[in-house]
Amino acid sequence: METIRTIAWMKEKAREARQEQRVIGFVPTMGALHSGHMALVERARKECSPVYASIFLNPAQFGPNEDLSKYPRPLEADLEKLTAAKVDGLFLPDAAEIYPLGFSTYVHVEGLSERLEGKARPGHFRGVATVVLKLLEIVQPHYAYFGRKDAQQVRIIRQMVRDLNSDVEIVVCPIVREPDGLALSSRNTYLGVDERKAATVLYRALQAAAKEIAAGVRDTLDLQRTLHKVLESEPRARVDYAEIVDAETFEPMVRVGRCCYALLAVYIGKTRLIDNMLIQPAGDELSMEL
Ligand code: PAJ
Repeated sequence: METIRTIAWMKEKAREARQEQRVIGFVPTMGALHSGHMALVERARKECSPVYASIFLNPAQFGPNEDLSKYPRPLEADLEKLTAAKVDGLFLPDAAEIYPLGFSTYVHVEGLSERLEGKARPGHFRGVATVVLKLLEIVQPHYAYFGRKDAQQVRIIRQMVRDLNSDVEIVVCPIVREPDGLALSSRNTYLGVDERKAATVLYRALQAAAKEIAAGVRDTLDLQRTLHKVLESEPRARVDYAEIVDAETFEPMVRVGRCCYALLAVYIGKTRLIDNMLIQPAGDELSMEL
């Protein structure tokens, strides 16, 4: 696997691939790769050749009191995983390559960026949208792969791509979980042994809500009460939000019916975890995807 550190070289590789009529797949990441990331890579490998991944720990999407400095950076292990997965190239720029002195253009997706994760992490989605647009411009993929784990992020990226007439197709992949239901996340490494056990409460809360929906409950207040009840039964958990929102607008809903998400953000000790469940119409019923 080739490691590409400059924008000029990455653009050259993309230009060559496009000239040869090849279909470029792209998986942007911040590194500390786990099976959730690798599922995106595998999907891309099935659908595209060449496949490029990027590792860029984007300072613009971290707040001043967030975990940028302690974010895990196991580069050697990441390189091994990407090589084993037969990724064609890794775009690995440094911060000065992406944000040179004098950089001053940011992308702000209005409305969607202000709610939920955006409210809890001011400026976060501005940083995400800006870097993703830059990466798409540099790698020139036909298809770019994102996880549903970050449901609001992928909704915002889709909006940006639509609004700015970008030709890339955004592909959303399912959430990859540990056997006990915990969604894989680079931040799970922050959890101590007892916290790791407690962290399954997010999945348990979503499951409890899914069970109620299957039993016919439609009122989102009732469902949110269930989410809170399960989450608050775990002494190490502190709920940031537990909401049911429209999958298009991310606005609160009164009753579940259309396509929507149950979204959770929960502190386990000092670690903030997010998870979600997709709820969508399936005939006369609703289907729940965890
Ligand atoms: P990162 O957190 O490294 O995640 C990279 C991609 O992996 C995202 O699309 C994310 O949704 C996906 N992912 C993470 N955990 C997953 C899981 N358990 N199952 C399925 N997919 C999972 O998200 C980012 O980086 C950044 O914001 C980025 C888009 C790279 C921009 O900097």
